[in-house]
Amino acid sequence: VSPYLFTYKKRNFLVKDKLRPNDLDTLQHFELRPTDVFLITYPKSGTVWMQQIVVQIMDEAHPELAEDASNRSRVPWLEERSADDPNRERPDPRIFGTHLPPDMLPLAVKDKQIKAVYVWRNPKDVLVSLYHFAQSWVLLETPKSFQDFFQQFLDGKVYMGSWFDHVSEYSAARNQLNIHFVQYENLLKDLRGEVVKLCSFLGQDLTDEAIDRVVESSTFKNMKTNPNANYMELLEKERYKKETMRKGVAGDWKNHLTVAQNQRFDEVLKEKMKTLPLTCIWE
Ligand code: PPS
Repeated sequence: VSPYLFTYKKRNFLVKDKLRPNDLDTLQHFELRPTDVFLITYPKSGTVWMQQIVVQIMDEAHPELAEDASNRSRVPWLEERSADDPNRERPDPRIFGTHLPPDMLPLAVKDKQIKAVYVWRNPKDVLVSLYHFAQSWVLLETPKSFQDFFQQFLDGKVYMGSWFDHVSEYSAARNQLNIHFVQYENLLKDLRGEVVKLCSFLGQDLTDEAIDRVVESSTFKNMKTNPNANYMELLEKERYKKETMRKGVAGDWKNHLTVAQNQRFDEVLKEKMKTLPLTCIWE
């Protein structure tokens, strides 16, 4: 893998980040409260979007807890911050974000049947989004070329390892975890319908007007201009060189992959996803 990454238990983590294998092991014993909610993604699959949706659902359901603060502080990141991050001791219901695969999650996620939302996205669009992000985030190596990065992605030699492993491992773990799967493309097609399903999974009874507000605040257009939602502070701190709210569409891969790359991708997908029971709506 790239000199910007180190491998632990088959996954690739950031050399320039503080997190080390020992911290990852410690995280497995991180204590959870029954009301905690986990938002789980492979990178560039809709993490920041789901943060906004779930934060807004919780604010509508618990207005006394609503705050004018960024989602970065309201949804503490499980693995990239020190264990003494004060954001971890937030009032209930806490929301955590993570990219960790199922075998590296805190054991309590399974043992206490903590509610988890898993967002996944057409891997070709994930590849394209990650390719752009690798040119933006200072912790990642700038790709030499799209072809080079394309091969690294197929080989799982990118941040967090193989997309194919991540999705199939969560799919295989679905009966052991209390997990709700959401497809990025379905959020694009029917945001309101997906918000209604999320409310039901999270046990939050919202009025139609409250649901409308959640939907409105979670559109790409509104998140792009909302500093609490769009991670602008990382741009300002020069951790990101480009906005994270890049395009927010399905099918941008068509502007990047050649016919030959697309065929190669489909071959790998067909081979690796043979047993995947999740239904896809990719174009
Ligand atoms: S990260 O860095 O892993 O947390 O990135 P992540 O948030 O998972 O993914 C970033 C992509 O999600 C898009 N995004 C959205 N799309 C549609 N609607 C909304 N509201 C939205 N919010 C974020 C974002 O634009 C990135 O995708 P690309 O394809 O790069 O535009």
